[in-house]
Amino acid sequence: MNENKNVLICIGTRPEAIKMAPVYFEFLKSGYNTKLCVTAQHRDLLDQVLHFFKMTPDFDLDLMTPNQTLNMLSSRILEGIDNIFIEQKIDLVLVHGDTTTSSVIALAAFNRKIKVAHVEAGLRTYNKQSPFPEEMNRQLTGRLADFHFAPGETANQNLKKEGVLVNNILVTGNTVIDALKITSTILDEGFNNTIIQNLNEKIDFNKKIVLVTGHRRENFGEGFESICNALVEISKDSDVELVFPVHLNPNVQEVVYKRLSNLPNVHLIAPLDYPTFIWIMKKSHLIISDSGGVQEEAPTFGVPVLVTRTVTERQEGITAGCSFLVGTNKIVIVTKAKEILSKSKDYNKTINPYGDGNASKKIVDFFKSRTW
Ligand code: UD1
Ligand code: UDP
Repeated sequence: MNENKNVLICIGTRPEAIKMAPVYFEFLKSGYNTKLCVTAQHRDLLDQVLHFFKMTPDFDLDLMTPNQTLNMLSSRILEGIDNIFIEQKIDLVLVHGDTTTSSVIALAAFNRKIKVAHVEAGLRTYNKQSPFPEEMNRQLTGRLADFHFAPGETANQNLKKEGVLVNNILVTGNTVIDALKITSTILDEGFNNTIIQNLNEKIDFNKKIVLVTGHRRENFGEGFESICNALVEISKDSDVELVFPVHLNPNVQEVVYKRLSNLPNVHLIAPLDYPTFIWIMKKSHLIISDSGGVQEEAPTFGVPVLVTRTVTERQEGITAGCSFLVGTNKIVIVTKAKEILSKSKDYNKTINPYGDGNASKKIVDFFKSRTW
């Protein structure tokens, strides 16, 4: 009888789209009446991913506004999603991770007595300010959710400590690895596009590639200034090419373009579509990033990550020696970067601690194996 149920998968930003794409495809195969709703909290970055995975949303709230505030975005999501809940008679909503889209939709579903499943559940720093607002988004979504898909054992333990019933948790691995599996196959088949051709023209891939990303709110201002100063210092090594696809958040764009334009071996480029980003990740010697997803992906290719944050909820990579917490201090970043750049590229190949690529199937099997 589960098969007649209406399932709504809700996403809003680039990482949610990447990590929920394999879950969406698995649900489509499952026989459940599955629909996709995007809030478009991100517009451009989301559309890049939808295009690559050939996902067509059934509902598009199209909410993004330039430099949006968290509260304005939240109120618009609450209003927009409620109509869909009412009209579509939704039985189960799946949300992902830690965004405003996830926590607000979880609340809206709870208010309508719709069951909530949380994918990438249980990640915690227990520091309300870092990552901000993601830590509280995770905790709120966790309290509202009925079913919790933990990417790993630490997350599982966090949920249990918080009193979530064991029966409602499943440890699945992170779905980002499922997405990476799909993408790696496409890359192995000889993926190419005009962006890759342009990159090949302007970047000397015989040099050591340092890939950089950044977008965390807690780093806005001083933190980003300091990271940029570190990048200027690292770029003084003429054997290095820095490639920085700059996030579209105006708070990031402003400081990065002001501080790093016109340096010969610093390439500030538009955000890359997902397969192209993975293509360049594979070629990188080092990554400097505050991204959650990037920390999870890089170990697959043995590329070390300097995590420009003071805390991380992805401790597995640190423990395995795949990533290093460096914060935003210029000297710490430069010292660690130089150390890694002085070694060969096969610096640290290990099994990716974040998953085995079968998380999405485990999630769907969970629902098939029980009445809900
Ligand atoms: C959001 C998430 C963060 C996630 C990150 C992934 C929240 C509170 N933040 O942060 O958890 O790690 O996405 O990238 O949910 N913009 C565009 N085009 C886009 C995307 C963003 O122009 O495609 C600009 C807009 O001006 C927008 C601003 O960036 O208002 C901020 O977007 P928002 O989603 O609020 O925050 P992010 O910093 O992207
Ligand atoms: N990514 C991408 N293009 C880029 C930078 C990142 O497709 O130019 C992908 C990356 O592979 C990862 C995800 O975006 O899967 C991470 O997104 P982001 O860093 O914005 O968010 P977070 O993971 O920190 O929530």
